[in-house]
Amino acid sequence: MPKILVIHGPNLNLLGTREVDIYGKVTIVEINKCLRDMAKKKMVEIEIMQSNHEGEIVDVIGKVKSKKVGAILINPAAYTHTSVAIRDAIAACGIPAVEVHLSNIYSREEFRHTSLIAPVSKGQVTGFGKTSYILGLEAAIELSKKKDA
Ligand code: DQA
Repeated sequence: MPKILVIHGPNLNLLGTREVDIYGKVTIVEINKCLRDMAKKKMVEIEIMQSNHEGEIVDVIGKVKSKKVGAILINPAAYTHTSVAIRDAIAACGIPAVEVHLSNIYSREEFRHTSLIAPVSKGQVTGFGKTSYILGLEAAIELSKKKDA
């Protein structure tokens, strides 16, 4: 069974109360339930983590190969725009990654227009709220199945 690793970056634990005008009222618990339900229907294994710590995210990505993860779904949050370390970890791991964002990073402040993660990702979904994760998971499942074959 293909395995997907979902990584939520910093401050995403605060969804539901954090800048609701931008991120909406959806909580991380609701997003995770939706992803778990979808994974069950599609018969893929899913592992979900959230961290506010760059190094912890790097460590987790570093273990994906040994844990037989088929694809990574990641919302790197603020680290999207700053983290060479997460970018390098994704490039090094050899497992396809899909980048997602709740908000449209290209319609916000200039500093959010650059993603260091996008060039090492298979693709990016940005601006659709919870639906970004659903579309991203769909893509990640496809990629993991290709890897399996
Ligand atoms: C975000 C966009 C980032 O710019 C921001 O730092 C976040 C959330 C999003 O999902 O829209 O924390 O990744």
